[in-house]
Parts: sequence; structure tokens; C-alpha cells
Amino acid sequence: MQTINRLDSLREAVATLREKGKVALVPTMGALHSGHLSLVRAARERAATVVVSIFVNPRQFAAGEDLDAYPRQLEADSALLRAEGVELLWAPTPAAMYPDGYATNISVSGVSEGLCGAARPGHFDGVATVVCKLFNQVRPDIALFGEKDWQQLAVIRRMARDLDLSYPHVDAILGMPTMRETDGLAMSSRNAYLTAQQRADAVTLPRAMQAAIAAIGSGTPVDAALAGLEADLLAGGFVSVDYAQVCDAASLAPLTTAPVAPARLLVAARIGKARLIDNMDVPVAG
Ligand code: PAF
Repeated sequence: MQTINRLDSLREAVATLREKGKVALVPTMGALHSGHLSLVRAARERAATVVVSIFVNPRQFAAGEDLDAYPRQLEADSALLRAEGVELLWAPTPAAMYPDGYATNISVSGVSEGLCGAARPGHFDGVATVVCKLFNQVRPDIALFGEKDWQQLAVIRRMARDLDLSYPHVDAILGMPTMRETDGLAMSSRNAYLTAQQRADAVTLPRAMQAAIAAIGSGTPVDAALAGLEADLLAGGFVSVDYAQVCDAASLAPLTTAPVAPARLLVAARIGKARLIDNMDVPVAG
């Protein structure tokens, strides 16, 4: 595996690798877990070359968020990627990504605005900007993201569609199902912040979400099911709930009645120092 941190070397290496066939990109911020590795394996099934980027993107952390504390473990991550047979690790420095004088921001309205966008001002501008740059740097044929960050995926697809990106084309931006621990907690680099007690309590999140979805399916009004979900989280060790909403799966417009088209339950809640997010399908009524 080549590890590259200069853009000119990246372009040269990708040009050579492209001769073997399709190039897949898996963008990450490192602190890799099985969820990331499942994206790498899915990329391997679809492309001749797998490129993984590791970049803890300062522009997607608001003031007071966990940028400094965010886990950084490049050596351990490299070993995991090498074992997966990844051809290229793109690990730019912040100065290489945002050189002196950097002044451009990509802001995707609409789909960015509610949910995590409301709780984390500027976060999705930072994500859209860095992902657009990663796409332009690597020019992958396909790119893979986890569906755990459902809103992020919607923002990235909107950005790719609106800017007419062709590497990758919006249809080649693939969302992969959330990987879960055996008790159902969604895998996340931020789970590393949890104490043993908080980790045990954190399972309340997927369980309460499943209970709310079942309640909606059996006729409980959406607002009552969401109120029950919030109460379950607070009783189960979470300190606060940023949001719990049922939304149209594509536009993320909030729904107040049982869904008649693909819908998602999206939740963000805080436990200890961690802010955990999760989302699940809400079956169409009837
Ligand atoms: O999901 C992440 O890890 C990040 O938001 C991403 C897409 C790599 C952009 O920094």
C-alpha cells in the first residue's frame, strides 16, 4: 500500500493505478472500525483499485466540538488497510488540503438545514467542501459512504448532482448499510468516548428506535411514538436528545403522519461526552 500526502504524487499514483480499471474511493476521518472496513470490502468488489482517504477535516467541526479530541491513529489504521489489500492511502495534512489563502466554501441548502445541520452549524458546508475536494483530487469512478450518516450522504449526492460532478457521477455515490455491534449499537469512531457504563446504556438508542418504529407500524401517532422514544433515551442514560424525527428518506422533510413513501427515523442524542446518531427505515404504512 502506498501512503501519499502530496497532491502531485497522488495524481501520478492514481493515473498509474487507473490503467488496471475502475478506482473506488472510501473517504474517512480515520479511527477505522469494522464499519469502515466493510466499505473497503464493498469497494474491492466493485473496482480494481481501492483508495482510502484519512483526513480529520477541521472545517466540519464547529467551535467547541471534538476536533482536538477526535481519535487519530494513522499507524493502526494503515495496518488495517494494508491487511485489506488497499492500494493507496491518501492522508493529506490540513495545510495541503487548505493552503494559505484558501477561501472557497460549498454550502448545500435545503437538505443540510435540519437535523444535524441545525445542531451543528457549518458542519455540512465543511463536509460538502472536503468531499468535493477529495473527489477532485482522486477522481474516483465510485465512492462509498456509510448510511449511518444518512443526512451526510443526502448532502453529498445533492452537491454532486448540483455541481454536475462526473468523477464520481452521482449514481456512483453508494450508500452502504450501517454496521452494528452485536447488541445493535451502530459502529462509530465516537463510541470510543464512552465509558463502560455509557457503552452499556448506549444500546438504548437502537432499541428505543426499533420500539418507536414498531409503535408507528401498529398505529401510534408519529409524535407520540417520538415522545416515547425521547423518554426511553432519557430514562436509559442519555443526557439529552438533539432530535428525533421521521423524515422523507430522500428530501429529509419531516413527516408528522405515518409514511406513505420511503421514510427514515433519524436520531441524535448525547451520552457522556459522545453525541451518537443513528437512523433506520420506517416501513410504509398499510
Ligand atoms: O463521514 C466521515 O468520516 C466524514 O464526514 C467524511 C465523509 C470523510 C468527510 O470528512
